[in-house]
Amino acid sequence: MVMDTAIVYGMKTGEGVGNERLSPWLTTTPIEGPVALQLGGGGREDTTYQSVDEKSIDILKQSVKLALDYSTKWNEINLNMGCPSSKAVKRSFGSSLMRMSSGEHTRRAVSECVRIAGARTPITVKCRLGVSCGGGGPDSDSRLGYDALTSFVRGVRDGGVRKVILHSRVCMMSGLSTGENRNVPPLMYDVVSRVKRDFGDIEIVLNGGVRSLEEGEGLLGRRNGVDFSEKFNDGKDSIWGEMDSSPPLVDGVMIGRWAYNDPCGLWDADSRFYGKSDRNPTLREILTEYVSKASEAGKKKKNERSDRGRENGTRRSEATIFCTLIASLLVCSLSMTVIALVANSLHQQQVLRRCRRCNPGERADINTSD
Ligand SMILES: Cc1cc2nc3c(=O)[nH]c(=O)nc-3n(C[C@H](O)[C@H](O)[C@H](O)COP(=O)(O)O)c2cc1C
Repeated sequence: MVMDTAIVYGMKTGEGVGNERLSPWLTTTPIEGPVALQLGGGGREDTTYQSVDEKSIDILKQSVKLALDYSTKWNEINLNMGCPSSKAVKRSFGSSLMRMSSGEHTRRAVSECVRIAGARTPITVKCRLGVSCGGGGPDSDSRLGYDALTSFVRGVRDGGVRKVILHSRVCMMSGLSTGENRNVPPLMYDVVSRVKRDFGDIEIVLNGGVRSLEEGEGLLGRRNGVDFSEKFNDGKDSIWGEMDSSPPLVDGVMIGRWAYNDPCGLWDADSRFYGKSDRNPTLREILTEYVSKASEAGKKKKNERSDRGRENGTRRSEATIFCTLIASLLVCSLSMTVIALVANSLHQQQVLRRCRRCNPGERADINTSD
C-alpha cells in the first residue's frame, strides 16, 4: 500500500526531478507483473478543514493521476478500505472508509478515481465485511451486519467499481492490533458468497484464511466436497441474515499469508488455474528462478538508492557552499560596522580636540553629529 499523500506531497517536495520524485513509491521491476498498485487515502484528514471531503478526495484523485502518468504497467489500482491499523484510524482511511459507507464520501471518492482512471485502468476496492468500533460516543458508529455491508458495496459499485475484494472478516477498530485483526474476528465465507449472489454484475473476490489450492478450487466451483464449515457464520449471528449451507462461490480468490509462508504450495497454480499446459517446474527450478529474480530486483533497488545518494550528496555540497557564502557576508558586514564605529569615534575625538583649541571654555559633550 502506498499513501496518496506520499505520492502527491512527494511529487512537490521529494528528491529528484519531475517523475523521478515518485520512484521510491512507484518503481517496480520488469519481473513483477501482473501488478496492482494499492493506494491508502481518501479519508477525512483534517476535521477543522471546511471542505474537508473535497480536500481528501482531491488528494486521492491526484495520486491516481500521478501513478497513471508515471507508469502504464498497473493492471489495476486498488483502494484500501479495510486497513485496521492505528494510522488508518487516525487518518481515517482504510477501514474508516467503510464506516462512512452510509454517507456520500466513499462513493464520491471512488467515482472520482474511476473518472480519472477512465477505461485505461480499473479501480478496485479491498475491504472487510464490516467495522466494529466499540466504546461509545460519535466515533463509535460501527457498520455491522448484512444491510450495512450491501449498502457499502452498492455505494462503490454505483461509483463505478467493478471488482471488490472482501477480506471475509469484520474489522475491530479498537481493542485488537493489526495482526490480531487478521486472525481473531471469525471468517464468514458464506457472507461473501451471498454478496456475490446479490451483486452478480460485479466481480467478488474472497480473501482471508485460504490455505490450499484445493480450497481455492472449491471457492471457484471447480472442486466439490471441500469442507468450509469452519469458515461459515451459518446464521449463528442474525445480523448477517439467513445464510444457507451451500458451498461458497466467488469470482476470484486472493491469498495473502499462505503465499509467503509456503511459496512452494503454489508450484502448480498456473496449470490448475490458468490452463498452462507446460510441465510443472520442479522445486529446484522454482528456487533457482526465485533467487535470480530476487537478486535482479535487489540490484535495481540498490542502484536507485545509490543514485539518490549521489543526488543528495550534490545537494548537500550546494547547501554547504550557500551557507559558507552567507556566513562570509555576515562576518564582512560585521567587520565593516566595527570599522565604521571606530572611524566615527576617532573623527568625533578629532573634532572635539579642534573645538577645544578654538573655544577653550566650550563644554566637552558638544554635539558633533553635524
Ligand atoms: C505483513 C502483512 C502486510 C499486509 N499489508 C496489507 C496491505 O498493505 N494492504 C492490504 O489490503 N492488506 C494487507 N495485508 C492483509 C492481507 O492482504 C490479507 O487481507 C490478510 O492477510 C488476510 O488474508 P490471508 O489470510 O490470505 O493472509 C497484509 C497482511 C500481512 C500479513
